[in-house]
Order: sequence, then C-alpha cells, then structure tokens
Amino acid sequence: MAEKEQLYAEHWGREGFYGDGVNVTRLQHVPDFTHVSGLHAPHRLNIADVLLPDRGDAAALPTAIFISRSGAQLSVSGRRQNMPFVVSNVEADEIHFIQQGELCFATAYGRIAALPGDFVFIPRAVPYQVEVAAIPTLSLIAEIPGAVKFDAAPKFEAQLGVPEIAVVTPEPVETTVLIKSFDGITRYVKPYSPLAMVALSGGSNPVWKISLKDIPPNPAGHPTQFAASPDNDELFYTLSARPRRRPPMHYNADYDELIFYFAGPGAWGAVKEPGTLTWVPKGLAHHGPSEDVPEGYLAWMLESRPTMRLTDAGMKVAQLMETDLYGPHPAQASVRRIGF
Ligand SMILES: [Fe+2]
Repeated sequence: MAEKEQLYAEHWGREGFYGDGVNVTRLQHVPDFTHVSGLHAPHRLNIADVLLPDRGDAAALPTAIFISRSGAQLSVSGRRQNMPFVVSNVEADEIHFIQQGELCFATAYGRIAALPGDFVFIPRAVPYQVEVAAIPTLSLIAEIPGAVKFDAAPKFEAQLGVPEIAVVTPEPVETTVLIKSFDGITRYVKPYSPLAMVALSGGSNPVWKISLKDIPPNPAGHPTQFAASPDNDELFYTLSARPRRRPPMHYNADYDELIFYFAGPGAWGAVKEPGTLTWVPKGLAHHGPSEDVPEGYLAWMLESRPTMRLTDAGMKVAQLMETDLYGPHPAQASVRRIGF
C-alpha cells in the first residue's frame, strides 16, 4: 500500500438513517463509473426546464416527472391562472412545495396561502382549487399513496400553518370537480361549489403547511425529518446547510434519495441552481457533497422506499449525474423509458 494513498470510508446501511449497517475502509472511490446502461441510474434535472402544459393552459394538470413502484409521483406545475375547476386526488396525499411565485389553495376546509419555501399538505380526498397570487409560479408536487403526517425527528418547535376559515354563502355556481384516480380523471358537474362553508364545527383540520426555513437543520447526526408516510415508506427531511463532516461514501439499501435544492447563496457541491432535483436510486454507492457550507443554502430530501423512475417528461430534461459532488456525468446514459 502506498504511503500517501487516499483512504475512503464506506457505509452500507439499512432503513435509511435508522437501521443497522457496516463500515469499511477502501482505497478505491466506489461511486465512480464510466458508463451505464439501464434505468437504475442517478440523474439530475432542473424543474424549471420541464415542459409544462399548465403554464399556458389553465385547464391543464401538473406534469409527472417521477413515478414510483407504489404509485407515488413527483410532478411539476407552473400555473399562471386560477384553476377553472376543483380537484380531488383520491389516490394520494399531495405535498406542494413552492419554488417560485405565490399561490393560494382554496380547500373544502379553508384557504391556505403559500410562498416560496412552503410545503402545503393536502391529504387524499380533500377538494381544492389553486389560485394564483403572483406569477411566475413553479411548484414541485409529491403525491404519496399513504397518509403523510408531521413527524419530527429530532423533535423541534414546529410552526405549522393552518387554513383560514372563511364563511362563504354558497351561491348556485355550477362547479366542475375533477376526481383524480390511478386510471385518469372523472369529471363531475355540481350545482354548487364544494368549497363553500358555514362553519368548521369540530375535528382537526387535515390541511397544513410548514416552511423549509422553519425546519432547523440537525447540528449532529442525521438530517431533521419532518414528515413521514406509514411504515416510513416515504420520509421528508431538511437537507439545508449545517456544520458537519462530509458523510462517507455509502449505500442506502432501502431508499431512493431525491434531494431538492431550493435556494443559495451557497452551492451544495456541484449543485448551485435553485430548482435542481437530484436522484440517487437505492442501493447505488454514492458520496454526495459536504453540507458544511458557511454561506448557507436551503434544500430538502425525499427518501422513497418504493423504487423511483423518471417519466418520459422527466427524462427529456434530466442529465446523467456523477455521485461524488452531484454534477453532470460526462458519459451519456443509455437509459430510456420507465419499466412500470
Ligand atoms: Fe445518501
């Protein structure tokens, strides 16, 4: 062994940040690859590059860029006009992350305004209508089949936003309601809007929001988790800058990692453009940039136990990614078409 050769620590772990694992030391940088063909390959994209029909067509719906084996999806929206209908997703909870612009979600359980950096949680079967308050808008929407709950680890003082209840006398305004299910849209026409309400008279409001900037990065240990679906199938974390040693190169045996860079000023490794989404599929050796960036940046991560795949719309704007600092990989990927 040469005296000055670089040694690399490596971790193989189960259950993301929570399970058992093994640590080894190697001389080679295991994440490196020169070529890949197949679907299970790391990519990066900027959500601003996705071709969005709902930018120009108020009646269009968001565009899916990822789909998972369980039916979870990531979609992008760039809506410029109010939705001309009410929509209800009967297959999944929706988490809308606002990258740009200002939106208001008029729901059957009140109105909730959203600014850049906000996550708005709209559970399955809650009818809602998106209103545009300031353009241009850009949102990343996660659709998760299991019920997503606020679940903080480590615990932090949460500042959760709740809808404002506005009493609206229902005028006889004919309203179209779109029911979104796994196999498409079912369209109802109703004599009244289902959003008008006289009073909220009990129970807990299912709609809530939290701002990324209000989730404190954990100074030690794993990133701060703030939301989870049943059995930890999908986990949401802040991945904003924090003083910490760079993680070892590692294998995440059970989760795909999707990391979204919201804003600087600091760069996170080779990721410096707001709106960049990186994807490392499960079980691949990767390293990842240091999170110790004194200038600061704001980012978050979705861990998905069901394997993710790029859709055609996502693949059109995605680049193959190296998994050291998460820059574009010099090789062209021979990767096409989702497998399920
Ligand atoms: Fe990782």
